[in-house]
Amino acid sequence: MKTYALKQNLKQHYNLYTPEDFLVWKTLFGRQMILLQELACSEYLKSIKTVKFCAERIPDFKEVNEILGKATGWSLEVVEGIINEEDFFVLLSQKKFPATTWLRKLNELDYLPEPDMFHDVFAHVPLLTNQPFCDFFKTIGDLGVKNKHHSEVLTMLGRLYWFTVEFGLMKEKDKLKIYGAGILSSYGETKFSVSSEPTHLSFDVEEIMHTSFENDKIQDKYFVLNSFDELYNSIERIKAIVKGEKTVNL
Ligand SMILES: [Fe+2]
Repeated sequence: MKTYALKQNLKQHYNLYTPEDFLVWKTLFGRQMILLQELACSEYLKSIKTVKFCAERIPDFKEVNEILGKATGWSLEVVEGIINEEDFFVLLSQKKFPATTWLRKLNELDYLPEPDMFHDVFAHVPLLTNQPFCDFFKTIGDLGVKNKHHSEVLTMLGRLYWFTVEFGLMKEKDKLKIYGAGILSSYGETKFSVSSEPTHLSFDVEEIMHTSFENDKIQDKYFVLNSFDELYNSIERIKAIVKGEKTVNL
């Protein structure tokens, strides 16, 4: 997958959004929210109101950053696309989430070779108001920075990120709900992820950190949390596993 260099001081140019951009946002937002009312976790549905996202307006990063800043101290860092792993971990450790500002075209609503703003912002940003989720997310960044020369550890952290932040599910009142951004922004995967087709496994950081994934197809397994507190409470275990991995490879 193509990666972009992290550049300083990139900005969102709100006045350059076209009528097509607004229509794309409105179409995707409306279509996805119909599905997500039933299928997203309650914290996502609550927090999308906290960040004031709506169909009629493409989010303005300045306003979003004010809300995130007050809620958890996180902010958005404008990027052109997927950045390299090292820069990604550095940003997370600084409570910055890399986000693109461009939107897909109307004729490619369901095919995207790389994540656009609908994925980065609609799907990722609301939960950046949730403290336990953010603490977990920052831990991945901190460990990534500390272990930048340990490729095995970086692989494990990548899996942790993949099976939670991107493709995590949660159980609420015995029903499967979505919190992973890769699912929240995917019309096709939303229903599939909670159907009986894929395998649903209990959240277990040790298992996750030893489970590989493929990033170019729909998932065949998802790990299911009970709450964001469970994510937060896994932090010490993650640190212990990372420490053990380094000891083994000394
Ligand atoms: Fe993502």
